[in-house]
Amino acid sequence: MAKKLNMKERYTSKLYDLWAAFYDGTFGKLVHSRQQLALKQIRPKDGELVLDIGVGTGMTLPHYPENCTVVGMDLSGGMLEKAADKIDEKSLDHCNLVQGDAMFPPFAPQSFDHVIITHTISVVSEPAKLLKWAETLVKPTGRIVILNHFQSANKFIGWWEHVLNPFFLKIGWRSDLPLEECLEGSDLHTLYHFKISQFDFWQIVVLSPTNKVEKDEVVIPQKAKLKSAASLDSTFGMPATN
Ligand SMILES: C[S@@+](CC[C@H](N)C(=O)[O-])C[C@H]1O[C@@H](n2cnc3c(N)ncnc32)[C@H](O)[C@@H]1O
Repeated sequence: MAKKLNMKERYTSKLYDLWAAFYDGTFGKLVHSRQQLALKQIRPKDGELVLDIGVGTGMTLPHYPENCTVVGMDLSGGMLEKAADKIDEKSLDHCNLVQGDAMFPPFAPQSFDHVIITHTISVVSEPAKLLKWAETLVKPTGRIVILNHFQSANKFIGWWEHVLNPFFLKIGWRSDLPLEECLEGSDLHTLYHFKISQFDFWQIVVLSPTNKVEKDEVVIPQKAKLKSAASLDSTFGMPATN
């Protein structure tokens, strides 16, 4: 890593080195099916390049189709070692790893066809900066897919998420991050976002520099609550819900 890490990223790197040993068996178990669903929101064409920011132990890697090339980037050497083990064990020759800081990613603008960010936007020091980078790195027709917990709009739940935030910060992420804060200063279009059920903690958000989305691109479970951007209502044939 060329650039010196700031204090928050240095703490995060050490913390996730510790998490690495038991991540897959704990938090990873909880979120694995959602990670797979997040990846289904991109359908890479042959030869396309996908950036997975904060790839961690590489739980997403076995679920990328072999027709694309994946670059998994992470701060933590410990997490990346686990990801490298998966690549070796499962012969994932289309997956590559880079140790780097998402606050200063070592890639040229528009290098990637799609960008995936799972459970990482609430971990970095500046969520809006991460998204701005994703916007810079993705091609104009690409997708940026975020899977994360965002602070609830419900006042009571949102208050608890705020109160519990110091505890969650100690174990590695923010519990009080609103989606709106991530989108500050971004020119991306929110194509759609959904939870697998109304009371799920996690949300999948699909963004793009373009506001064009075909109905058959959207892969969501039947009971999921889809929210579309107002500009896409005619595509989905449904009233705006956000
Ligand atoms: C909660 S884990 C998520 C891992 C994986 N994406 C998943 O869904 O299982 C968050 C990951 O983000 C990484 N991370 C945090 N801040 C980062 C930064 N500034 N640059 C790169 N990776 C970062 C951590 O090292 C950790 O592996």
